[in-house]
Amino acid sequence: MAGVKFGVLTGGGDCPGLNAVIRAVVRKGIAAHGHEIVGFRDGWRGPLEGDSEELSIESTRGILPRGGTILGTSRTNPFKRADGPRTIAATMGELGLDGLIAIGGEDTLGAANRLHGEHGLSVIGVPKTIDNDIGATDVTFGFDTALHVATEAIDRLHTTAESHHRVMVVEVMGRHAGWIALYSGVAGGADVILIPEQPFDIDEVCHLISRRHSRGRTFSIVVAAEGALPQAATIEVGWGETDEFGHARLGGIGHLLEKEIEQRTGFETRAVVLGHVQRGGTPTAYDRVLATRFGVAAIDAAHAGRWGMMPALRGAQIELVQLSEAVAELRTVTAEEFEFAESFLG
Ligand code: F6P
Repeated sequence: MAGVKFGVLTGGGDCPGLNAVIRAVVRKGIAAHGHEIVGFRDGWRGPLEGDSEELSIESTRGILPRGGTILGTSRTNPFKRADGPRTIAATMGELGLDGLIAIGGEDTLGAANRLHGEHGLSVIGVPKTIDNDIGATDVTFGFDTALHVATEAIDRLHTTAESHHRVMVVEVMGRHAGWIALYSGVAGGADVILIPEQPFDIDEVCHLISRRHSRGRTFSIVVAAEGALPQAATIEVGWGETDEFGHARLGGIGHLLEKEIEQRTGFETRAVVLGHVQRGGTPTAYDRVLATRFGVAAIDAAHAGRWGMMPALRGAQIELVQLSEAVAELRTVTAEEFEFAESFLG
Protein backbone atom coordinates (compact mmCIF):
# COMPACT_ATOMS: atom_id res chain seq x y z
CA MET A 1 0.00 0.00 0.00
CA ALA A 2 3.00 2.35 -0.61
CA GLY A 3 2.21 5.90 -1.74
CA VAL A 4 -0.81 6.14 0.50
CA LYS A 5 -1.21 9.42 2.38
CA PHE A 6 -3.25 10.28 5.46
CA GLY A 7 -3.98 13.51 7.29
CA VAL A 8 -4.15 13.96 11.05
CA LEU A 9 -5.60 16.76 13.18
CA THR A 10 -6.26 17.54 16.85
CA GLY A 11 -9.46 19.46 17.69
CA GLY A 12 -11.27 20.83 20.74
CA GLY A 13 -9.66 21.41 24.13
CA ASP A 14 -6.06 20.20 24.33
CA CYS A 15 -5.28 17.22 26.48
CA PRO A 16 -2.14 15.46 27.73
CA GLY A 17 -1.33 12.58 25.35
CA LEU A 18 -2.25 14.23 22.02
CA ASN A 19 1.39 14.27 20.95
CA ALA A 20 1.74 10.60 21.84
CA VAL A 21 -1.10 9.79 19.40
CA ILE A 22 0.46 11.92 16.65
CA ARG A 23 3.83 10.25 17.19
CA ALA A 24 2.29 6.76 17.07
CA VAL A 25 0.36 7.54 13.87
CA VAL A 26 3.52 8.90 12.22
CA ARG A 27 5.88 6.14 13.43
CA LYS A 28 3.62 3.22 12.61
CA GLY A 29 2.30 4.83 9.44
CA ILE A 30 5.69 5.59 7.96
CA ALA A 31 7.87 2.80 9.37
CA ALA A 32 5.45 -0.13 9.21
CA HIS A 33 3.03 0.80 6.42
CA GLY A 34 5.13 3.12 4.23
CA HIS A 35 2.48 5.89 4.34
CA GLU A 36 2.97 9.63 4.15
CA ILE A 37 1.42 11.65 6.96
CA VAL A 38 0.24 15.25 6.77
CA GLY A 39 -0.61 17.22 9.92
CA PHE A 40 -3.35 19.89 9.81
CA ARG A 41 -2.96 22.89 12.08
CA ASP A 42 -5.54 23.97 14.67
CA GLY A 43 -8.22 21.31 14.37
CA TRP A 44 -10.81 21.67 11.60
CA ARG A 45 -9.38 25.11 10.73
CA GLY A 46 -6.45 23.31 9.07
CA PRO A 47 -8.37 21.43 6.36
CA LEU A 48 -10.83 24.32 5.98
CA GLU A 49 -8.02 26.75 5.19
CA GLY A 50 -5.52 24.31 3.70
CA ASP A 51 -3.07 24.85 6.54
CA SER A 52 -0.91 21.75 6.83
CA GLU A 53 2.61 20.37 7.12
CA GLU A 54 4.27 17.09 6.22
CA LEU A 55 5.04 15.06 9.38
CA SER A 56 8.07 12.78 9.57
CA ILE A 57 9.63 10.49 12.15
CA GLU A 58 12.31 13.16 12.55
CA SER A 59 9.86 16.05 13.06
CA THR A 60 7.90 14.12 15.68
CA ARG A 61 10.89 12.97 17.73
CA GLY A 62 10.87 13.88 21.42
CA ILE A 63 7.19 14.80 21.59
CA LEU A 64 5.98 11.77 23.58
CA PRO A 65 6.25 13.41 27.03
CA ARG A 66 5.15 16.84 25.87
CA GLY A 67 1.74 18.20 26.85
CA GLY A 68 -0.52 20.07 24.42
CA THR A 69 -0.37 19.33 20.72
CA ILE A 70 2.37 20.18 18.22
CA LEU A 71 -0.38 20.66 15.62
CA GLY A 72 -2.28 23.27 17.61
CA THR A 73 -6.02 23.03 18.18
CA SER A 74 -9.20 25.08 17.95
CA ARG A 75 -12.91 24.77 18.52
CA THR A 76 -13.66 25.47 14.83
CA ASN A 77 -16.88 23.78 13.71
CA PRO A 78 -16.82 22.82 9.99
CA PHE A 79 -20.63 22.73 9.98
CA LYS A 80 -20.74 26.42 10.97
CA ARG A 81 -18.88 27.35 7.74
CA ALA A 82 -20.58 27.74 4.38
CA ASP A 83 -19.48 24.71 2.37
CA GLY A 84 -17.36 23.40 5.29
CA PRO A 85 -17.60 19.69 4.39
CA ARG A 86 -17.03 20.41 0.68
CA THR A 87 -13.98 22.55 1.47
CA ILE A 88 -12.49 19.78 3.62
CA ALA A 89 -13.10 17.23 0.85
CA ALA A 90 -11.45 19.59 -1.65
CA THR A 91 -8.38 20.08 0.60
CA MET A 92 -8.05 16.34 1.01
CA GLY A 93 -8.28 15.93 -2.76
CA GLU A 94 -5.67 18.64 -3.45
CA LEU A 95 -3.22 17.04 -0.99
CA GLY A 96 -3.91 13.57 -2.38
CA LEU A 97 -5.09 12.27 0.99
CA ASP A 98 -6.64 8.83 1.23
CA GLY A 99 -8.15 9.55 4.62
CA LEU A 100 -8.09 11.65 7.75
CA ILE A 101 -7.53 10.81 11.42
CA ALA A 102 -9.36 13.28 13.69
CA ILE A 103 -8.29 13.23 17.34
CA GLY A 104 -10.80 14.97 19.58
CA GLY A 105 -13.66 14.94 22.03
CA GLU A 106 -17.43 14.97 21.57
CA ASP A 107 -17.43 17.97 19.18
CA THR A 108 -14.50 16.97 16.94
CA LEU A 109 -15.71 13.38 16.81
CA GLY A 110 -19.29 14.52 16.19
CA ALA A 111 -18.08 16.51 13.18
CA ALA A 112 -15.93 13.56 12.02
CA ASN A 113 -18.96 11.28 12.25
CA ARG A 114 -21.10 13.65 10.16
CA LEU A 115 -18.33 14.19 7.60
CA HIS A 116 -18.17 10.43 7.18
CA GLY A 117 -21.87 9.57 7.46
CA GLU A 118 -23.42 12.53 5.60
CA HIS A 119 -20.63 13.48 3.19
CA GLY A 120 -18.82 10.19 2.58
CA LEU A 121 -15.40 11.41 3.75
CA SER A 122 -12.84 8.79 4.78
CA VAL A 123 -12.41 9.64 8.45
CA ILE A 124 -11.29 7.79 11.57
CA GLY A 125 -11.75 9.25 15.05
CA VAL A 126 -9.55 8.98 18.14
CA PRO A 127 -11.18 9.78 21.51
CA LYS A 128 -9.46 12.33 23.75
CA THR A 129 -10.66 14.41 26.66
CA ILE A 130 -9.69 14.93 30.26
CA ASP A 131 -13.43 14.78 31.04
CA ASN A 132 -13.51 11.02 30.21
CA ASP A 133 -17.03 11.38 28.84
CA ILE A 134 -16.87 9.82 25.36
CA GLY A 135 -19.32 6.97 24.86
CA ALA A 136 -18.20 3.53 23.66
CA THR A 137 -14.77 3.67 25.33
CA ASP A 138 -14.13 2.84 28.98
CA VAL A 139 -11.46 5.54 29.27
CA THR A 140 -10.09 8.46 27.24
CA PHE A 141 -6.44 9.48 27.47
CA GLY A 142 -5.83 12.72 29.37
CA PHE A 143 -8.19 11.74 32.16
CA ASP A 144 -5.52 9.99 34.23
CA THR A 145 -3.23 13.03 34.07
CA ALA A 146 -6.02 15.43 35.05
CA LEU A 147 -6.99 13.13 37.90
CA HIS A 148 -3.42 13.13 39.23
CA VAL A 149 -3.23 16.93 39.08
CA ALA A 150 -6.58 17.33 40.85
CA THR A 151 -5.74 14.75 43.52
CA GLU A 152 -2.39 16.34 44.25
CA ALA A 153 -4.11 19.73 44.58
CA ILE A 154 -6.65 18.30 47.03
CA ASP A 155 -3.85 16.74 49.10
CA ARG A 156 -2.12 20.11 49.28
CA LEU A 157 -5.33 21.95 50.11
CA HIS A 158 -6.00 19.54 52.97
CA THR A 159 -3.00 20.76 54.95
CA THR A 160 -3.78 24.43 54.52
CA ALA A 161 -7.50 23.87 55.22
CA GLU A 162 -6.60 22.01 58.40
CA SER A 163 -4.14 24.69 59.57
CA HIS A 164 -6.62 27.53 59.06
CA HIS A 165 -9.78 25.64 60.06
CA ARG A 166 -11.35 26.54 56.74
CA VAL A 167 -13.66 25.07 54.18
CA MET A 168 -11.80 24.74 50.88
CA VAL A 169 -13.85 24.49 47.69
CA VAL A 170 -11.91 22.95 44.79
CA GLU A 171 -13.45 23.50 41.35
CA VAL A 172 -12.27 20.92 38.81
CA MET A 173 -13.10 20.53 35.12
CA GLY A 174 -16.01 18.45 33.90
CA ARG A 175 -18.64 20.13 31.81
CA HIS A 176 -21.29 17.43 31.63
CA ALA A 177 -19.57 14.56 33.41
CA GLY A 178 -18.26 14.47 36.96
CA TRP A 179 -15.52 11.85 36.55
CA ILE A 180 -12.64 14.13 37.58
CA ALA A 181 -14.59 15.43 40.60
CA LEU A 182 -15.74 11.97 41.66
CA TYR A 183 -12.40 10.18 41.34
CA SER A 184 -10.19 13.00 42.66
CA GLY A 185 -12.69 13.51 45.48
CA VAL A 186 -12.47 9.85 46.44
CA ALA A 187 -8.69 9.70 45.98
CA GLY A 188 -8.20 12.92 47.95
CA GLY A 189 -10.68 12.08 50.73
CA ALA A 190 -13.08 14.97 50.04
CA ASP A 191 -16.03 15.59 52.36
CA VAL A 192 -18.44 16.81 49.66
CA ILE A 193 -18.39 15.91 45.95
CA LEU A 194 -20.66 17.81 43.55
CA ILE A 195 -21.11 16.60 39.98
CA PRO A 196 -23.30 17.72 37.04
CA GLU A 197 -25.21 14.42 37.04
CA GLN A 198 -26.61 14.99 40.56
CA PRO A 199 -28.00 18.51 41.09
CA PHE A 200 -27.19 19.54 44.65
CA ASP A 201 -29.15 21.23 47.40
CA ILE A 202 -27.05 24.01 48.96
CA ASP A 203 -28.86 23.58 52.29
CA GLU A 204 -27.87 19.91 52.39
CA VAL A 205 -24.26 20.74 51.54
CA CYS A 206 -24.12 23.31 54.35
CA HIS A 207 -25.89 20.99 56.78
CA LEU A 208 -23.34 18.26 56.06
CA ILE A 209 -20.42 20.64 56.65
CA SER A 210 -21.95 22.03 59.86
CA ARG A 211 -22.65 18.51 61.17
CA ARG A 212 -19.07 17.50 60.43
CA HIS A 213 -17.74 20.53 62.32
CA SER A 214 -20.14 19.90 65.23
CA ARG A 215 -18.52 16.46 65.52
CA GLY A 216 -15.14 18.01 66.10
CA ARG A 217 -13.74 18.37 62.60
CA THR A 218 -12.31 21.84 62.04
CA PHE A 219 -12.04 21.90 58.26
CA SER A 220 -13.80 20.51 55.18
CA ILE A 221 -12.93 19.87 51.55
CA VAL A 222 -15.59 20.34 48.86
CA VAL A 223 -14.79 19.15 45.32
CA ALA A 224 -17.11 20.56 42.65
CA ALA A 225 -17.11 19.85 38.93
CA GLU A 226 -17.33 23.12 36.99
CA GLY A 227 -20.65 21.86 35.55
CA ALA A 228 -22.15 20.99 38.96
CA LEU A 229 -25.68 22.31 39.12
CA PRO A 230 -27.71 23.56 42.05
CA GLN A 231 -31.22 22.12 42.21
CA ALA A 232 -33.84 24.27 40.50
CA ALA A 233 -35.02 27.37 42.37
CA THR A 234 -32.15 27.34 44.89
CA ILE A 235 -29.09 29.37 43.91
CA GLU A 236 -28.25 30.83 40.48
CA VAL A 237 -25.13 30.04 38.44
CA GLY A 238 -24.17 32.49 35.70
CA TRP A 239 -22.39 31.03 32.66
CA GLY A 240 -20.40 32.83 29.97
CA GLU A 241 -20.74 33.07 26.19
CA THR A 242 -21.01 29.95 24.00
CA ASP A 243 -18.48 28.52 21.52
CA GLU A 244 -19.12 27.33 17.93
CA PHE A 245 -20.45 24.03 19.21
CA GLY A 246 -22.91 25.78 21.52
CA HIS A 247 -21.11 25.12 24.82
CA ALA A 248 -21.21 27.86 27.43
CA ARG A 249 -17.93 28.86 29.06
CA LEU A 250 -18.17 27.42 32.55
CA GLY A 251 -16.32 28.32 35.71
CA GLY A 252 -17.92 30.14 38.57
CA ILE A 253 -19.49 27.43 40.69
CA GLY A 254 -16.44 27.39 43.01
CA HIS A 255 -16.71 31.04 43.93
CA LEU A 256 -20.48 30.86 44.22
CA LEU A 257 -20.11 27.96 46.67
CA GLU A 258 -17.42 29.86 48.58
CA LYS A 259 -19.84 32.74 49.17
CA GLU A 260 -22.89 30.60 49.97
CA ILE A 261 -21.09 28.21 52.33
CA GLU A 262 -19.39 31.00 54.28
CA GLN A 263 -22.63 32.98 54.59
CA ARG A 264 -24.79 30.00 55.54
CA THR A 265 -22.40 28.15 57.90
CA GLY A 266 -20.28 30.98 59.26
CA PHE A 267 -17.11 28.98 58.48
CA GLU A 268 -14.34 30.79 56.67
CA THR A 269 -14.27 29.44 53.12
CA ARG A 270 -11.88 29.73 50.17
CA ALA A 271 -12.34 28.61 46.57
CA VAL A 272 -9.59 27.31 44.29
CA VAL A 273 -10.29 26.93 40.58
CA LEU A 274 -7.84 24.42 39.08
CA GLY A 275 -8.87 25.21 35.50
CA HIS A 276 -6.43 24.58 32.67
CA VAL A 277 -3.66 23.40 34.99
CA GLN A 278 -5.48 20.06 34.74
CA ARG A 279 -5.04 20.00 30.95
CA GLY A 280 -1.47 21.23 30.74
CA GLY A 281 1.89 19.59 31.11
CA THR A 282 3.32 16.15 30.66
CA PRO A 283 1.00 13.14 30.45
CA THR A 284 1.20 10.32 33.00
CA ALA A 285 2.74 7.02 31.90
CA TYR A 286 -0.76 5.53 31.70
CA ASP A 287 -1.94 8.28 29.33
CA ARG A 288 1.18 7.97 27.17
CA VAL A 289 0.60 4.26 26.76
CA LEU A 290 -3.15 4.56 26.12
CA ALA A 291 -2.61 7.38 23.61
CA THR A 292 0.08 5.34 21.84
CA ARG A 293 -2.22 2.31 21.67
CA PHE A 294 -5.02 4.49 20.21
CA GLY A 295 -2.61 6.02 17.66
CA VAL A 296 -1.38 2.62 16.51
CA ALA A 297 -4.96 1.31 16.25
CA ALA A 298 -6.04 4.42 14.31
CA ILE A 299 -3.31 4.20 11.66
CA ASP A 300 -3.86 0.44 11.35
CA ALA A 301 -7.58 1.12 10.84
CA ALA A 302 -6.78 3.76 8.19
CA HIS A 303 -4.42 1.30 6.49
CA ALA A 304 -7.25 -1.23 6.41
CA GLY A 305 -9.78 1.37 5.17
CA ARG A 306 -12.03 1.04 8.25
CA TRP A 307 -13.60 4.49 7.79
CA GLY A 308 -16.17 5.77 10.25
CA MET A 309 -14.53 3.85 13.09
CA MET A 310 -12.77 4.79 16.34
CA PRO A 311 -10.38 2.85 18.58
CA ALA A 312 -11.85 2.34 22.05
CA LEU A 313 -10.63 0.79 25.28
CA ARG A 314 -12.94 -2.04 26.27
CA GLY A 315 -11.71 -3.70 29.44
CA ALA A 316 -8.00 -4.15 28.72
CA GLN A 317 -8.39 -4.46 24.93
CA ILE A 318 -8.36 -1.85 22.19
CA GLU A 319 -11.28 -2.43 19.83
CA LEU A 320 -12.66 -0.56 16.84
CA VAL A 321 -16.15 0.84 17.39
CA GLN A 322 -18.46 2.86 15.15
CA LEU A 323 -17.94 6.61 15.46
CA SER A 324 -21.72 6.98 15.37
CA GLU A 325 -21.97 4.79 18.46
CA ALA A 326 -19.25 6.77 20.25
CA VAL A 327 -20.94 10.15 19.73
CA ALA A 328 -24.51 9.00 20.31
CA GLU A 329 -24.40 9.69 24.03
CA LEU A 330 -21.93 11.10 26.56
CA ARG A 331 -20.60 8.69 29.17
CA THR A 332 -21.69 10.33 32.41
CA VAL A 333 -21.57 9.17 36.03
CA THR A 334 -24.55 6.98 36.92
CA ALA A 335 -26.22 6.99 40.35
CA GLU A 336 -24.67 3.56 41.07
CA GLU A 337 -21.22 4.81 40.10
CA PHE A 338 -21.61 7.75 42.50
CA GLU A 339 -22.92 5.57 45.30
CA PHE A 340 -19.60 3.97 46.22
CA ALA A 341 -18.27 7.42 47.16
CA GLU A 342 -21.18 8.34 49.41
CA SER A 343 -20.11 6.46 52.54
CA PHE A 344 -16.87 8.47 52.62
CA LEU A 345 -18.54 11.88 52.46
CA GLY A 346 -19.23 14.22 55.38
O1 F6P B 1 -12.33 19.71 26.76
C1 F6P B 1 -12.95 19.56 27.96
C2 F6P B 1 -12.79 20.79 28.81
O2 F6P B 1 -11.56 20.75 29.48
C3 F6P B 1 -13.96 20.94 29.77
O3 F6P B 1 -13.78 20.24 30.96
C4 F6P B 1 -14.02 22.43 29.96
O4 F6P B 1 -15.33 22.85 30.26
C5 F6P B 1 -13.62 22.95 28.63
O5 F6P B 1 -12.82 21.98 28.04
C6 F6P B 1 -12.91 24.27 28.71
O6 F6P B 1 -12.69 24.73 27.43
P1 F6P B 1 -11.80 25.99 27.04
O7 F6P B 1 -10.37 25.55 27.13
O8 F6P B 1 -12.18 26.28 25.63
O9 F6P B 1 -12.10 27.06 28.01
